[in-house]
Amino acid sequence: MSTQEITPDAYCVFGNPIAHSKSPAIHAAFAQQTGEAIVYERRLAPLDGFALAARGFAAEGGRGANVTVPFKLDACALATELTPRARAAGAVNTLRFDGDVILGDNTDGAGLVADIVRNAGVAVAGKRVLLLGAGGAARGVVLPLLQEQPAEIFIANRTVATAARLVEQFQDAVPAGCALRAGGFEQPDGVFDLVINATSASLAGDLPPVPPAVFAANTLALDMMYGAAPTVFMDFAAENGAQVRDGLGMLVEQAAEAFYVWRGVRPATQDLLALLRGAL
Ligand code: ATR
Repeated sequence: MSTQEITPDAYCVFGNPIAHSKSPAIHAAFAQQTGEAIVYERRLAPLDGFALAARGFAAEGGRGANVTVPFKLDACALATELTPRARAAGAVNTLRFDGDVILGDNTDGAGLVADIVRNAGVAVAGKRVLLLGAGGAARGVVLPLLQEQPAEIFIANRTVATAARLVEQFQDAVPAGCALRAGGFEQPDGVFDLVINATSASLAGDLPPVPPAVFAANTLALDMMYGAAPTVFMDFAAENGAQVRDGLGMLVEQAAEAFYVWRGVRPATQDLLALLRGAL
């Protein structure tokens, strides 16, 4: 059969704004690498019209979609079935249209863990983890981090009550030998192996005021944000001796996980990550 006879399956990413999304380039590279016949495009949805736009795409024959800001909660509400990790996150970044079923998944946490464990080569098992922030980005990664069996996850947030609520919510998922705690930014004591900035502070050039003593030479400090220059958080962590990493690897890995959810094929990510890094 010639390739012309194959109708590629259609996917897209919904957001508002969406023009600068890297997802089409990432999924095009995955498709080329794996030989999967897909097309993937950007779709701008109106702020009050996500469900209509997503249903419309499915009606056109769309097989799945990624969902980014500000529609992850809308996508969660639209899904007729949620994976456990999407339910825990309370947000959906990956939809799969299976006939009448709209499966809602969340691959952000798995993407973060894959980037830390596989790309950075840092195990989470048995480690002390400091998670900064308690909003949607933080909530999305708590379950996949707990599943790695760390010794501790301390969730620090400006609004302590929000962090305390996350601890309460995830209490049943805490593995034996792991402590899940919450507090303010000034509260974490001692050195942490992994410090993850899941606040949106970097967007405004702000720094979550954590004690410098949380960082040491073996600490991996990861900001979920990325850009051509390091964030203020990455600079601060580096000044205090930590190894630093931005969120570009997480972006590529959450996309690879979504590709797997749709196609059952796991693309390689190393070369693409290097390519995207060079183009920042
Ligand atoms: P997201 O989906 O990106 O997590 P969000 O749900 O609005 O967005 O949450 C933003 C997170 O960044 C919150 O933890 C917020 O702290 P509060 O819960 O106290 O609001 C945190 N945040 C935002 N701006 C911040 C800043 N300038 N300094 C410290 N934390 C900040």
